[in-house]
Amino acid sequence: MLKDKDRIFKNLYGLHDWGLEGARRRGAWDGTKKFLEMGRDGIIEEVKNSGLRGRGGAGFPTGLKWSFMPRESDGRPHYLVVNADESEPGTCKDREIMRHDPHLLIEGCLLAGFAMGANTAYIYLRGEFIHERERLQAAVDEAYEAGLIGKNNIHGHDFDVYLHHGAGAYICGEETALLESLEGKKGQPRLKPPFPANCGLYGAPTTVNNVESIAVVPDIMRRGATWFSSIGRPNNSGTKLFCISGHVERPCNVEEEMGIPLRTLLEKHCGGVRGGWDNLLAVIPGGSSVPCIPAMECGDLPMDFDTLVKHKSGLGTAAVIVMDKSTDIIRAIARLSYFYKHESCGQCTPCREGTGWMWRVLTRMAEGRAQKREIDMLFEVTKQVEGHTICALGDAAAWPVQGLIRHFRHVIEARIDEYAGNPDPDGAVTEPAEQPPASPPASPVAAE
Ligand SMILES: Cc1cc2nc3c(=O)[nH]c(=O)nc-3n(C[C@H](O)[C@H](O)[C@H](O)COP(=O)(O)O)c2cc1C
Ligand code: SF4
Repeated sequence: MLKDKDRIFKNLYGLHDWGLEGARRRGAWDGTKKFLEMGRDGIIEEVKNSGLRGRGGAGFPTGLKWSFMPRESDGRPHYLVVNADESEPGTCKDREIMRHDPHLLIEGCLLAGFAMGANTAYIYLRGEFIHERERLQAAVDEAYEAGLIGKNNIHGHDFDVYLHHGAGAYICGEETALLESLEGKKGQPRLKPPFPANCGLYGAPTTVNNVESIAVVPDIMRRGATWFSSIGRPNNSGTKLFCISGHVERPCNVEEEMGIPLRTLLEKHCGGVRGGWDNLLAVIPGGSSVPCIPAMECGDLPMDFDTLVKHKSGLGTAAVIVMDKSTDIIRAIARLSYFYKHESCGQCTPCREGTGWMWRVLTRMAEGRAQKREIDMLFEVTKQVEGHTICALGDAAAWPVQGLIRHFRHVIEARIDEYAGNPDPDGAVTEPAEQPPASPPASPVAAE
C-alpha cells in the first residue's frame, strides 16, 4: 500500500489551493530549470529508467515513446499533445488532476515538450469538461504570468500551451482521431503507419500522451527514477490513480501503489463490496473496454498491467467497475455494447456492422430470447471484429462480450432456458417472439 509520503497528487480531492502558490507549496515548479539542464536525453533516460508506462490505457513505456521523436528538426515543428478526452466509461481521474493539481500537468508538459524538442503543447479536453477547462486555463494563465512558460520564460525553453475543447465523442480519445479533430476535421482515426512521431499533428512529428502520464513526470524528475520504480512491481512501477465505481460502499478515486491487491484496494478505500466480499459477482478492472473478471479470481489479484493480461483482461485506465450479485451481467454488458455501437465512427465494416450486431444479439440474450448456438456465433463475431479494424475501438467493443461468454456462459444459457420454459440442455427451441425494434428503444437495452 502506498505511503503518504509517496503520493504525487497531494491535492487529488481539492482540499487545498489549486493555484500556483498552493502548487508551489506542494513542490510543483521546484528545480524545473535544473531538469532542463540535464538535456533532452537526460530527461528521456530518467523517464525510461522510472519504468513509467502510459496511463491512457495501453500501458506503452512513456520514455521509449518519447525517444521515437526525431532527434533533429527537419524544419517541421514538433508537438506534444495531451489527451484529456477521458471518455472511457468508469474513468474519472484526469479531470481531478486538471481541477485540483493543474500545475503538475503544465510543468509536465514543459518537461516532456523540451525532451521531445517541442515548443508547443495542445491539451485536448473532452467536450463535457467545461469547469476543468476553465480551471486549467486559469492555471496556464498563471504560469504565463509568472514566466514559467511562454516566450523568454525563466526556464530558457520557449513553450506555449493551448487548450482545445472537443465536442464530446468517445472516438476522439483515440490518438489519431484526436489529431484529426484538433485539425478541425471529423474525428476519425487514421491508418497507421505513418505513426504520429513521424507524421502527426499538421503532418509534423507529434507525441500524444495521457494527462496522468504527463502529470507524474515532474515528480519522477524531482524524486528520481529509482524512487518511482521502487513502488509497485517489476515492469509495473509507480503510483496509479484508480477510479472505483459500482457496488462498493464508497466509490472513490484514489492514488495507490501499482499492483495493490484488488480486495485491499476495495476494502481499504471504498468500504468493501456492498453486502460483503462474498456478494461480489465480477469486476471490470480497467474501464469498460476490458473483459470482466469473475469474483473467484478477484481476491489477491494484483492490479497491474501484466497480471491482468494473464487473467485475459487489462489494467486499461484503472477504472474499476464493481458488480455485486444483484447485477444482471448480460444486461450490463449489453449496455456497454450499445455504447460502442453508438460511438463507432463507421469507417471499418467489422466495427460499424459488428458493434450493432453484438448489441442486438446481446439485447435478445438479456431477455433469453435467443438460441444457445448463438452464443458461439456471438463469440466468433467478436473474434472477427477484434484485430480487424483501423483502431482499437473494435477490440474495445469485442472484449467485454468475450469476457461475458468466457465467464458467464451458464448465466446466458439459464436465461435462454428460462425464457423458453424448456430446460433442455441442448436448448433447441427459442424463436424470437417478436423482431427487435429497428431503431434503439428509449432504454438502450430493450424491454426492461
Ligand atoms: C476508442 C479509444 C478511445 C481512447 N480514449 C482515450 C482517452 O480518453 N484518454 C487517453 O488518454 N487515451 C485514450 N485512448 C488511448 C490513446 O489512443 C493513446 O494510446 C493514449 O492517449 C496514449 O497515451 P499514453 O501513452 O500516455 O497512455 C483511447 C484509445 C481508443 C482506441
Ligand atoms: S474500429 Fe470503429 S471506431 Fe475505429 S476506425 Fe474503425 S469504425 Fe472507426
